[in-house]
Amino acid sequence: MAGLFITFEGIDSSGKTTQAELLVKALRERGYDVVFTHEPGGTEIAEKIRDLLLSEDNNRMTWLTELFLYMASRAQHTEEVINRSMEEDKIVVCDRYMDSTLAYQGYGRGLDRNLIHKLNHLSTRGLKPRLTFLIDLPPKAALERREGGDRLESETLEFHNRVREGYLEIAKDEPQRFRLIDGTRPVQEIAREILKVVEGHLRGKFNQ
Ligand code: TMP
Repeated sequence: MAGLFITFEGIDSSGKTTQAELLVKALRERGYDVVFTHEPGGTEIAEKIRDLLLSEDNNRMTWLTELFLYMASRAQHTEEVINRSMEEDKIVVCDRYMDSTLAYQGYGRGLDRNLIHKLNHLSTRGLKPRLTFLIDLPPKAALERREGGDRLESETLEFHNRVREGYLEIAKDEPQRFRLIDGTRPVQEIAREILKVVEGHLRGKFNQ
């Protein structure tokens, strides 16, 4: 595949969406063709699945149903948006992807992580990001940033602590792919660091 696939991960209100947006803006200003997308969602069908997942009306949804819906959204999104954009040589920036399911449903909910690995492989057809920025922040600090929230955002502090610890373990398992970012630092300072890493990759990729 020709393009560059970058993902952002982190607990709710970690600042990952802000950082993803700043990266996309900076890359576009530099003339790169960037597709900015997110999960769950990112296509017409996947957005419908997102609505099902995040609706306050669906509090009775079982954890397994939730898992399958995240995977269904991913299968549709990977096929329709990510794979296609990569084939067109674009840079794809995705706000959440496969690691979110391992962190939230695996470490957070306690569902079988081997099963999640297998379902992730199936739904992405093995497509992994080249670079993943994990914006790390203590859940307490993230909670203080939050206003309102949807069904998942109102999960307990312990749940988010498990998700955070999960992310840190996942990142440790794949140090080549992950960049761990201290999310307590000023927004612009983090954005500069992320852009530097991405520009390093782009120099290696396109200018050799
Ligand atoms: P967002 O707020 O980043 O759009 O994500 C919506 C929620 O979905 C967030 O609480 C994290 C959750 N989520 C999972 O639990 N598993 C997943 O696989 C994904 C992609 C998101």
